[in-house]
Amino acid sequence: MKPVVLAGGSGSRLWPKSRAALPKQFLRLTCELTMLQDTIKRLKGTAIDAPIVICNDAHRFLVAEQLRQEDIKHGGILLEPMGRNTAPAIALAALHASLSGEDPILLVLAADHLISDTAKFHTAIEQAQKLAEQGKLVTFGIVPDSAHTGYGYIKRGAEVSANLVGYEVAQFVEKPNLSTAQSYVDSGEYYWNSGMFMFKASRYLQELEKYAPEILASCKKAIASESKDLEFVRLDAEVFAACPDDSIDYAVMEKTNAACVVPLDAGWSDVGSWSSLWETAKQKDANNNVVIGDAILDGVHNSYINSEQRLISVVGLDDVVVVETKDAVLVAHKDKVQDIKNVVNQLKAEK
Ligand code: GDD
Ligand code: MG
Repeated sequence: MKPVVLAGGSGSRLWPKSRAALPKQFLRLTCELTMLQDTIKRLKGTAIDAPIVICNDAHRFLVAEQLRQEDIKHGGILLEPMGRNTAPAIALAALHASLSGEDPILLVLAADHLISDTAKFHTAIEQAQKLAEQGKLVTFGIVPDSAHTGYGYIKRGAEVSANLVGYEVAQFVEKPNLSTAQSYVDSGEYYWNSGMFMFKASRYLQELEKYAPEILASCKKAIASESKDLEFVRLDAEVFAACPDDSIDYAVMEKTNAACVVPLDAGWSDVGSWSSLWETAKQKDANNNVVIGDAILDGVHNSYINSEQRLISVVGLDDVVVVETKDAVLVAHKDKVQDIKNVVNQLKAEK
């Protein structure tokens, strides 16, 4: 089994820590490892090959350095000249991994998730592998605890077979609106899509050919243009620029009939926002605050405070997020942290 680590996202809701030059997956947010390092190191103990990491060209030295720091052997760092979302990124990895004539099973991982129970995660990987060997496109499903609209929703169908763990996917809906998401949660029949997948490289490419042939064609051309540069694999920018932008969820998972879902109950979080970092933090003070760095709080509850350089003082506020960095300070209500991406969009527009 070959892991494919997707490390090309921007993580804009974790501004001001997560920046264009240093997105979320390269930060130390939940432990002493960066999220990229943690993603790969938690695979230790499973039967796997060296991972392919696929990221933006601009982050190549960050990736190489972070792998080196933890002595992580990799199976190639694929550089995208520009982001075209996850359907092309996975296609590039699948094509690259098949160049030797093999047809490996790929374990596609986001580089920016938290999984607290590694043993349960490894069990789910073993269960998924049996299904992937049969030609299934396997997703890992999380029992939802809210009507989050930033996730894919998977309706559980029949059991795949009596002696395997996993269900057919009766329906896959990427990022439904709030009322639809709420009805899915209420029904008890849906999982969240964790954003991790497992399939044979050939099966993903076949489904892509069926449902998004332009993406496959562009990625084939891009891989035909690949060249080695030290430990990096480079692609022709002009060729890849012509590739349509789409996620695996919209381009393939919503459409394929070959999907199945393995339930995952391993303390998964996609660390999508400051409030999820507050929720998943192991250490909170007596007033349920997470405090990182230098801070004095008085009459403050259920808040997330993170100081990099200066002393933060907060008095008489509940449910706030305060994040201080060298050149920016964020103060937000904990219920509104999804809107931080609007700030980032405004900053981009002003540039
Ligand atoms: N290499 C590469 N290139 N990686 C990318 C690109 C790209 O163009 N775009 C995104 N990624 C990486 C991100 O860094 C992240 O690790 C992963 O792919 C998923 O991308 P996101 O942009 O974070 O997707 P999402 O959160 O909106 O939705 C996905 O994840 C949810 C769970 O966290 C979907 O799969 C949802 O269905 C799922 O519920
Ligand atoms: Mg995400």
